[in-house]
Amino acid sequence: MNYTLHPLKTIDPSLLPKIAEIQLGDAGLLSRLGYPFVLRYFEIAIQDKRAFGFYAQDNKTGEIMGLSLASPEPSSLTSQLTHDRKWFIAQILKVLFSRPLIFLQMIISSITIKSQMENETDAVECVYFTVDPKFRGHHLGRTLQKALMDEGRKLGYKKILASIETWNKASLAATLSNGFTIVKTYREGIYHRHRLENRL
Ligand SMILES: CC(C)(COP(=O)(O)OP(=O)(O)OC[C@H]1O[C@@H](n2cnc3c(N)ncnc32)[C@H](O)[C@@H]1OP(=O)(O)O)[C@@H](O)C(=O)NCCC(=O)NCCS
Repeated sequence: MNYTLHPLKTIDPSLLPKIAEIQLGDAGLLSRLGYPFVLRYFEIAIQDKRAFGFYAQDNKTGEIMGLSLASPEPSSLTSQLTHDRKWFIAQILKVLFSRPLIFLQMIISSITIKSQMENETDAVECVYFTVDPKFRGHHLGRTLQKALMDEGRKLGYKKILASIETWNKASLAATLSNGFTIVKTYREGIYHRHRLENRL
């Protein structure tokens, strides 16, 4: 595969729908909330001062192949989803009536995300790394996560953290081969997750 990693902040906003489409391939809560939430989340992430990430683009075709995103305060990204009240209320009502369990999960996860980083100083969270199914299995996921580690180190962070569902073998393999270790296993509503960390 012949591709280049670019900083997510430099992406042409017209490519964000493709980023959102790829991110929908992740089984986490954001994807379960649906496409409008995913798209809005990435619109917020590229404007956020502290979040950073990368996207992989095919050198020949220009196709977006995958993305990664990190933040020292992931809860601030999700809380910014509520800033446009009218939009948020309309979207969240749809979730509440069509998928009430996901609504409940959103509340549980927002409390967990906030508390997980509360006592962490000099740490950054690997929030997402996702590869288009067409390009999986060629170490792109590992490379996108590694780019977060390198950038985090450059920015002066001392530790990187991640939460991964216990069934997610590909994500776990990539993260462990990037040098993370599992520090605990916990339940977060419908999710069973490992918490992993790595020194930068
Ligand atoms: C997780 C994900 C990004 C991995 O991307 P990828 O480019 O296919 O992964 P890589 O090729 O970099 O593989 C990294 C390691 O995982 C292993 N691996 C890849 N797919 C695997 C699978 N399905 N089962 C077991 N191991 C797997 C590889 O052999 C490799 O191991 P190695 O480093 O020891 O050689 C990709 O599967 C994905 O986008 N999944 C959906 C989104 C997601 O779950 N993201 C993570 C959320 S925490």
